Amino acid sequence: MSILESNQIERSQIEHSQIERSGRSVRALGAQVRPAIIAIDGPAASGKSTVGYRLANALGYLFFDTGVMYRAVTWAALTRGIAIEDEPAVGALAHALEIDLCSPQPAQQDGRHATVRVDGQDVTWLIRAPEVDRNVSAVSAYREVRCAMTAKQRQIAQRYGRGDADRPGIVLVGRDIGTVVVPDAALKLYVDATPQERARRRHHELLQQGKTIAPEQVLADMIRRDRIDSERALAPLRPAADAVRIDNTGQSADATLVQALDALWATLGNCRYAG
Ligand code: CDP
Ligand code: CDP
Repeated sequence: MSILESNQIERSQIEHSQIERSGRSVRALGAQVRPAIIAIDGPAASGKSTVGYRLANALGYLFFDTGVMYRAVTWAALTRGIAIEDEPAVGALAHALEIDLCSPQPAQQDGRHATVRVDGQDVTWLIRAPEVDRNVSAVSAYREVRCAMTAKQRQIAQRYGRGDADRPGIVLVGRDIGTVVVPDAALKLYVDATPQERARRRHHELLQQGKTIAPEQVLADMIRRDRIDSERALAPLRPAADAVRIDNTGQSADATLVQALDALWATLGNCRYAG
């Protein structure tokens, strides 16, 4: 049985975390999970950030989209004239860069989930450029890049995953979160949808950002990026053996959130409870 019945869901209810089952709010559910870490992986535009962000809001957890870190390194290499093929230089850049993520300020409410800064500069939208999309998979396949990013991601996961009162928990989203970054996460989700649907979503997103690009090009770029991400030697994109798989083709974001909460509910039977 579902923790939430889809036809009873209202966006405001979910966002304010007032949904109850057996007398417990979703926030109370989140407070029981140890480690308070949820890992979400999946290919491009599968909807993993959408469900991850909403899940984090419902649980009162921090939301951490790890893809922005790889995008930030790629953007910095491109703008500083470092050749993407120059693995040692890109690796050194990844270790040296100051990548900062923080909650958007009231004046920055333009659809962003977080503000991303590179050495102090706000690059939140710059890292979404098609040129970054085309180069990010090559950059993220490099050993030193992964080494630098994974270390930072683990540090953040450990800090927030303790579930202390002032650090209630964390949802991490990426490609290798459940397999490499935090394999001991309490819940692992693998979110997917057909390539055609994912390309349609990404194309729509780009149009909304004022970027004109042919739909066929979006699909081709995405398939290429997924292939590189899945076939690379280090931390390839794949579901962890114990991940709950969600195919959200043709599904609303609400319905996916319900599935994720169901999975969390089911997982509580298998993970340690606080207190
Ligand atoms: O939003 P979208 O799914 O298109 O991409 P993203 O999550 O922003 O990730 C951009 C790229 O970063 C991916 O295509 C991967 O090459 C890389 N990435 C990774 O290697 N490992 C992660 N944990 C997250 C992203
Ligand atoms: O994080 P990822 O790249 O996997 O995808 P996303 O940013 O969560 O979603 C990509 C686009 O698909 C966004 O514009 C979402 O609003 C949209 N989306 C959708 O139309 N239906 C869903 N069930 C999930 C996401």
